[in-house]
Amino acid sequence: MAEIGKDIIKSAALLTSGELVAIPTETVYGLAGNALDEKAVLQIFKSKNRPSFDPLIVHLAGIDQVYDYVEFIPDELKALADAFWPGALTLLLPKKDIIPDLVTSGLGRVGVRVPNHPLTRSLLELLDFPLAAPSANPFGYISPTSASHVQHHLGKELAYILDGGLCEVGLESTIVGMEQGQVIIYRLGGVSVGAIEEVVGKVLILPQSSSNPQSPGMLKSHYAPRKPMVLGDLDELMQQYQHEKEGVAILSFRRSFPDIPASNQVALSSSGDYDEAARNLFSAMRELDETNATLILAEELPEIHLGKAINDRLRRAAAK
Ligand code: TXA
Ligand code: MG
Repeated sequence: MAEIGKDIIKSAALLTSGELVAIPTETVYGLAGNALDEKAVLQIFKSKNRPSFDPLIVHLAGIDQVYDYVEFIPDELKALADAFWPGALTLLLPKKDIIPDLVTSGLGRVGVRVPNHPLTRSLLELLDFPLAAPSANPFGYISPTSASHVQHHLGKELAYILDGGLCEVGLESTIVGMEQGQVIIYRLGGVSVGAIEEVVGKVLILPQSSSNPQSPGMLKSHYAPRKPMVLGDLDELMQQYQHEKEGVAILSFRRSFPDIPASNQVALSSSGDYDEAARNLFSAMRELDETNATLILAEELPEIHLGKAINDRLRRAAAK
């Protein structure tokens, strides 16, 4: 946990008076407000132009706080909380009445998470309420992994941005719940499927590319740059799009391409490290979105470690 600096005190004061503050987490930056204050929650939906049927994740200081807001935790999900909190895991649990229906978009379960960032953990310790926080990006655009990403799109909507540097994980949390005794992954994310299965055995992964009316954040086209993007094998794509007029930008896993200007390409991890690739993914997408290329060609990663979650975000970004 971090020392209580002026920035944390200021954030706490603003949040206590009902204002919104962008907070750093290890996954992505969140657009936070008091989860128990309907007015603040409404303001979150408004300022990121988010439809009210897309529920918000509630952030807590520690596992001890969970029981204030949920009815119970099934054993399997408790095991996951013990293994991964604080961390990039969100659990869907039966909510208590104290959580406004607005937060869960009227659903019976609330998504809860104990984030692992020293500033935000200290902030949550200071507050006597939990923080509802979606990713701090305009609805449908790429999630922010730095304070300047937040400033760029939502600076005007926010009372303050608590700057906690670059996000360590860089992908949103993995969302897990249970239905009829079966553990289900609703959204792939910063904790890999393999790591979850080591704790609870085989899980069901909800089809990630289809639309899921329960959770619009899992809709196909999401996390998307403004430029069109295609995903696949880079050699094939470069062949296919070699006559693209203004040129292409390249998002590769580890390779670089001597024939393409350096400013129009990003390798996510030249050493092939999946954690590093995840950490760099969203800023790479933003960077390539700002180039003069007309099209982004992105490489599909092997589906191991965080490769599966990275591919999920790339697929959504490519879906139109
Ligand atoms: O890592 C993260 O999860 C980040 C940081 C800020 O914590 N937050 C995040 O929030 O990605 P957001 O709002 O961008 O995505 C949350 C998604 C929603 O779109 C929805 O699909 C799902 O979580 N979700 C939240 N509460 C839910 C609920 N009660 N039932 C079903 N799905 C829920
Ligand atoms: Mg989001």
